Amino acid sequence: MQCSRLPQAALNQMVEGARVLEADSFGPKVFLLSDGNILKLFRRKRLFSSALLRPYSKRFIDNAVQLEKLGIPTLHTLQLYQLQTPGMTAVLYRPLPGETLRQIAKQDGFDWNQALPALSTFIRQLHSAGVYFRSLHLGNIVITPDNQYGLIDVADMRFVRGPLPSYLVKRNLQHFARYIDREHLNESFPIQALAQSLLPA
Ligand SMILES: Nc1ncnc2c1ncn2[C@@H]1O[C@H](COP(=O)(O)OP(=O)(O)O)[C@@H](O)[C@H]1O
Ligand SMILES: [Mg+2]
Repeated sequence: MQCSRLPQAALNQMVEGARVLEADSFGPKVFLLSDGNILKLFRRKRLFSSALLRPYSKRFIDNAVQLEKLGIPTLHTLQLYQLQTPGMTAVLYRPLPGETLRQIAKQDGFDWNQALPALSTFIRQLHSAGVYFRSLHLGNIVITPDNQYGLIDVADMRFVRGPLPSYLVKRNLQHFARYIDREHLNESFPIQALAQSLLPA
């Protein structure tokens, strides 16, 4: 994908009337634009890092393409931008329609005992396809209107040939468990049951 320059004035114009979906200490980070597309900003965190060679925005785009090839629903990237601020890039993409599992789990009457089998089937599908998604958690898994599971926020991912080795499955489960901890979901989320279904004895 070609990278085009997006001067500050053009960026300001683009995000006019947009809804901020996510922000960090530097300010707004994910914008839902008025045309329905999403613009996500990426900031290089350190001056010298692997992001210099392969920015996270570029990884985001490559990973989305790989997922698409594997038949795993994900967002559709449209454009990579170099922003005026040094170290800043942005990706424009068409969102994956649906809601995150995090949002769905907040709804009345939601029951993890009912939802767990489908989630665990999806994660097993990722692992058998060799997808190692370091940001695997409820906020980055989307259920589409036709009830398919898919991924967003796909910058931090590795693909291995064949199924993931069990040490990576375990590590991936730890990522997931840390999120459950961080979000104080230990009471409601059956992490043991998920572990058992992903790591058969
Ligand atoms: N492709 C998408 N489809 C649907 N919602 C999205 C999509 N991308 C982002 N969002 C929404 O924006 C929020 C933040 O996006 P995300 O890429 O996960 O940012 P962060 O890096 O802050 O986790 C998500 O929780 C979700 O609600
Ligand atoms: Mg996210």
